Amino acid sequence: MSSSTRITKAVIPAAGLGTRFLPATKAMPKEMLPVVDEPAIQYVVAEAARAGLSDVLMVTGRSKRALEDHFDRVPSLEATLAEKGDTEKLRRIQQATALGDIHYIRQGDPRGLGHAVLCAKLHVGNEPFAVLLGDDLIDERDELLRTMIDVQQRTGGSVIAVMEVEPEAISAYGAADVEEVEGEDYVRVKKLVEKPAPEEAPSNLAVIGRYVLHPAVFEVLERTAPGRGNEIQLTDALEELATRDGEGGGVYAVVFRGRRYDTGDKLSYIKAVVTLACDRGDLGPELRPWLKSFVAGLD
Ligand code: UTP
Repeated sequence: MSSSTRITKAVIPAAGLGTRFLPATKAMPKEMLPVVDEPAIQYVVAEAARAGLSDVLMVTGRSKRALEDHFDRVPSLEATLAEKGDTEKLRRIQQATALGDIHYIRQGDPRGLGHAVLCAKLHVGNEPFAVLLGDDLIDERDELLRTMIDVQQRTGGSVIAVMEVEPEAISAYGAADVEEVEGEDYVRVKKLVEKPAPEEAPSNLAVIGRYVLHPAVFEVLERTAPGRGNEIQLTDALEELATRDGEGGGVYAVVFRGRRYDTGDKLSYIKAVVTLACDRGDLGPELRPWLKSFVAGLD
């Protein structure tokens, strides 16, 4: 395999328990929560498609039916909309089913993100691939994934995305200790720490939910013991690759300065829905003035 193998595969882990969003996620994956009028996962699959990743493997867990059904065609619904002449809704529902080739694999027991990625080993094979977390949205007006793919092709290693956060917020993320690479727009990762206490964090660079990985990660994950939270952590495997020389070694980070929306916890989810709805042509003009008067009436 050469480092310039074209990257066509995306793995989207969506098998987590979503405990921060209970009871909404009792019978439905959190990735199916609507962000305005599309489930979060559809934004993520659309982002993969825009980056040229036409082969998507979704890692699903319990209540996976809703996810699979969402990306399946429903001929009777399409026929009804066509009969009514509701071409706009027809177009919107067909968007979800035209995003590429979606495959599903089951993660029977949610043993962590690292384990979810390992479930993709057979499907991915020996080529670099992208991982997009199903509850993390990147604004389509901001570029990230294509840049990461480009950095993977140039370095031959693995690539993560990081964002600067307030120092006290780092304990909700993996934190990256990085060094500059002369003349490059990416940095090299020296060390990763999963959810550190702010005083122990090596930086305020938080790892966000986009990765472009060398397949060497699978062999490392296979022998990665459960770490923090008794889960097999992707961060632990990447930490090993970061210090490895030669084939498959090296982890690099792209510092993302665009708009990202976390839909995995309640407060961030509400902010994401309000922000995206304000930007929408069909909702923003009415929502913005209403929000202003609502806010003025608070307190
Ligand atoms: P999170 O840690 O945010 O997901 O995982 P979670 O465990 O579902 O959420 P909480 O903390 O209980 O509320 C990040 C991503 O990895 C997936 C999740 O679905 C989410 O997209 N994941 C996590 C898996 O696919 N399998 C796992 O075992 C764990």
